[in-house]
Amino acid sequence: MQKIVRNRRFLNLPPVLTLPHLSQSAVDTARGVESLDFREIINTSELRSAFDKFNLKGLSGCLNWTSRRNDKSHAACYVINRHFISDHNDRCAKEFSSKLLKSIPDFVKIVEVGPRDGLQNEKVTVPTDVKVELIKLLVSSGLSVVEATSFVSPKWVPQLADAKDVLAGIQNVEGARFPVLTPNLKGFETAVAAGAKEVAVFPAASESFSKANLNCGIEDNLTRCRDIVLASRSLSIPVRGYISCVVGCPLEGKIAPTKVAYVAKSLYEMGCSEISLGDTIGVGTPGTVIPMLEAVLDVVPADKLAVHFHDTYGQALSNTLVSLQMGISTVDSSVSGLGGCPYAKGATGNVATEDVVYMLTGLGVKTNVDLGKLMLAGDFICKHLGRASGSKAATASSKVTNHASKL
Ligand code: HMG
Ligand code: MG
Repeated sequence: MQKIVRNRRFLNLPPVLTLPHLSQSAVDTARGVESLDFREIINTSELRSAFDKFNLKGLSGCLNWTSRRNDKSHAACYVINRHFISDHNDRCAKEFSSKLLKSIPDFVKIVEVGPRDGLQNEKVTVPTDVKVELIKLLVSSGLSVVEATSFVSPKWVPQLADAKDVLAGIQNVEGARFPVLTPNLKGFETAVAAGAKEVAVFPAASESFSKANLNCGIEDNLTRCRDIVLASRSLSIPVRGYISCVVGCPLEGKIAPTKVAYVAKSLYEMGCSEISLGDTIGVGTPGTVIPMLEAVLDVVPADKLAVHFHDTYGQALSNTLVSLQMGISTVDSSVSGLGGCPYAKGATGNVATEDVVYMLTGLGVKTNVDLGKLMLAGDFICKHLGRASGSKAATASSKVTNHASKL
């Protein structure tokens, strides 16, 4: 069992016949469970009676499962993994016929922002080699876009003062793109000289936040963005445009969807390759996100949009789900939920990448990200920061792994 846990990280168990450690009776029990047609189990009472049939106590039974090393606990673990997570969900998830799930895309591109958004607010300097190692681990988990750092004023964001060195450290890393933030032409030129192949500008939908974050108002900032987009053209460098405070601002409160649509349209018309809608302080709920998205979708096509939810009020996954239902297929997230904006006090990190991957896997949506490897990247940076992971999926999984490894 320990070997299985080590090799498969417990949550990705293969089908029962490939588990060499199960006794014959455990195999029989699990086979009996396997013979249930999961597609027909459509409500919780049916699910409960399926568990009852095999005398299994559900997920909490599995999580508390420490000393009962018996056939039923093996089978319980199999059923729970089989039903709640992993690629095994493909079959059932793809057969959902609900209208609510039909609009969800088959593939979601995840833009990992942990090394930039996640680390920019850290008080203690994270050494460059730790940042480089984190990026490498994230790429090895299958993430195809990892925002690496920012070319901003080191007086404003000291944590990212080593931007050049970070880019130098990853110049030979293949298999992913590494956009960087550039607030003005100075940042753009320095980034390009350091080897950046993609950049991002970051206006706000709130005038006050724009001044606090960039020391200039929305219009002046849009002019800076336009300068960057113009300069990028001859170099064929794609420019992503973020919009901060799309539903709420720490200084102005509620932000009207029309203001967000205005900035989104400006970025789209100036030639940004993608526009990421940021709930910078994580105050949005589907109740505010939906009208904001409706307004933006009137002026920018869904395939040019991304969502960027911080999770201060625990709404980021719900907001992500409604965004997917509205046709958006690019989601920003941060490994272990690291982060926050230095100019948005009290705001916590982005939605954890592990939680997004867990949810998408459960929906049968492809991401090309290996959750186990992603969790290793999360463990690495959390250990370095001396902090528990902000990802519920990673935390739950490591509890299960810890219990099982004691067996
Ligand atoms: P400023 O002080 O107005 O700049 O800052 P300035 O033009 O007056 O120049 C002052 C000094 O800064 C000069 O140096 C410049 O050379 C230098 P000095 O002569 O005093 O030695 N400078 C720079 N140095 C390095 N890189 C540069 C640069 N530009 C000027 N690019 C500035 C204006 C935009 C630079 C400043 O406000 C700044 O760096 N702001 C960045 C703030 C930031 O990074 N915030 C966090 C990212 S945004 C975010 O997290 C939200 C997001 O995640 C989406 C969401 O969650 O919603 C994207
Ligand atoms: Mg952010």
